[in-house]
Amino acid sequence: MNNNYNPYRDLVVGVNAKVPLITGYLKNYINFDNAATTPPLHKVLNDINNFSSYYSSIHRGDGYKSQLSTKIYDDSRDTIKSFLNCDDDRMDVIFVKNCTEAINKLANILKDYEPEKDVILSTFMEHHSNDLPWRKLYSVYYVNVDDNGNLDINDLESKLIKYNNRVKLVTVTGASNVTGHKTPINSIAKLVHNYNAKILVDGAQLIPHSPVNLMPYDSLEHIDFAAFSGHKFYAPFGSGALIGPKDILSCCSPDYVGGGTIDFVTHDFVIWADSPDKYEAGTPNVLGSIAIVSAIETLSDCGMKNIENYERYLTKYATLNMLKIPNVILYGDYLNFNNKVSIIPFNINGLHHKLVSKVLSLEFGIGVRSGCFCAQPYMQKLLNISQSEIMKNLTLPKEKYPGTLRISFGMYNTISEINELIFALNKIATNRKYYLDKYSEIDSSILFD
Ligand code: ALA
Repeated sequence: MNNNYNPYRDLVVGVNAKVPLITGYLKNYINFDNAATTPPLHKVLNDINNFSSYYSSIHRGDGYKSQLSTKIYDDSRDTIKSFLNCDDDRMDVIFVKNCTEAINKLANILKDYEPEKDVILSTFMEHHSNDLPWRKLYSVYYVNVDDNGNLDINDLESKLIKYNNRVKLVTVTGASNVTGHKTPINSIAKLVHNYNAKILVDGAQLIPHSPVNLMPYDSLEHIDFAAFSGHKFYAPFGSGALIGPKDILSCCSPDYVGGGTIDFVTHDFVIWADSPDKYEAGTPNVLGSIAIVSAIETLSDCGMKNIENYERYLTKYATLNMLKIPNVILYGDYLNFNNKVSIIPFNINGLHHKLVSKVLSLEFGIGVRSGCFCAQPYMQKLLNISQSEIMKNLTLPKEKYPGTLRISFGMYNTISEINELIFALNKIATNRKYYLDKYSEIDSSILFD
């Protein structure tokens, strides 16, 4: 295959953008930070642009534009349900601003649902957004990971047994934003349902990179709740979704309230609107919903299985070549390509991750993320950091915290971009002293002086 060939590259905005290196030379930017956010698709921008002449308030006006905007917004819920293979008539889609908001919302609205159940089982693999929102309202226990950073399903079952009949929800990532490891969401759902609990899948890193099947509601393997963000899905217009069962959502109370959430109000009482409206206070983000639908249409045309296979090919190529570079350390179950999305955490022995990330940007025009990726407990496990070391690290300035670098591919990345990364890493890893001397004091804001 031609190293530059990529069937999806022309679908994505900004792939030929040039950025300055420290020398002032302009070069094609290589974006290997798709787990943080993806660029938009051309179709997303075009669809928003084309619709803009008809953009108007929704659920409020009788004018033609308002009616059209309302229909497009409400129909977009069906597109999301069909993309994720869930029961159209049994499930609701609530639009939120991103996955973080979706999980906070769910934590709040489930408080009074089955109030006798006070336990949430989260896991060691979670992003802080699928951990912190639960802590303030519930007793949270964390399912362990094995030495490779994979979810320990036996530990999940032991905790389901231990907290039997108290577990309201098991909340688990579909794919880790640190290692890319996937979790077997449908078989976890079956286990969870056998113990009379429900499951939430944080789909932020899974849904843009793999086919996902939330399954029919009557199946034991169905996913009760799922959440994802548009901005990691080539649709960065401030929208995301929380998907959940109508029967539960209809009997919970809204978490925050205002216009659009009610059927009737007096100063003495309120009758809430039905779900999903009661959970979408304020004027909804119709352009955000158009962006998500537009991205779904493009990704469905490409085929999620094809996208997954292509990104797996990139991940395998990059991993096998990184393993040949002296001083490069990879983390997690990095050769288990069939059970991960396109994320590779790594370090160069002897160099702080932040310094390497700066060098990749300043000298090679390659964008990656470094640090703990909003998943500090998982990172502490992967790096095998003891409790006392964690306490010592608290005294360090934030930019000196232990962590890793992370490259994460999107469907538009190419083998030749990976070849540039491999060249850069080889150069850095074999000239560590040179880069340490040159960059340890440099502030990365230098490019913007
Ligand atoms: N959670 C996003 C990431 O992993 C922002 O980078």
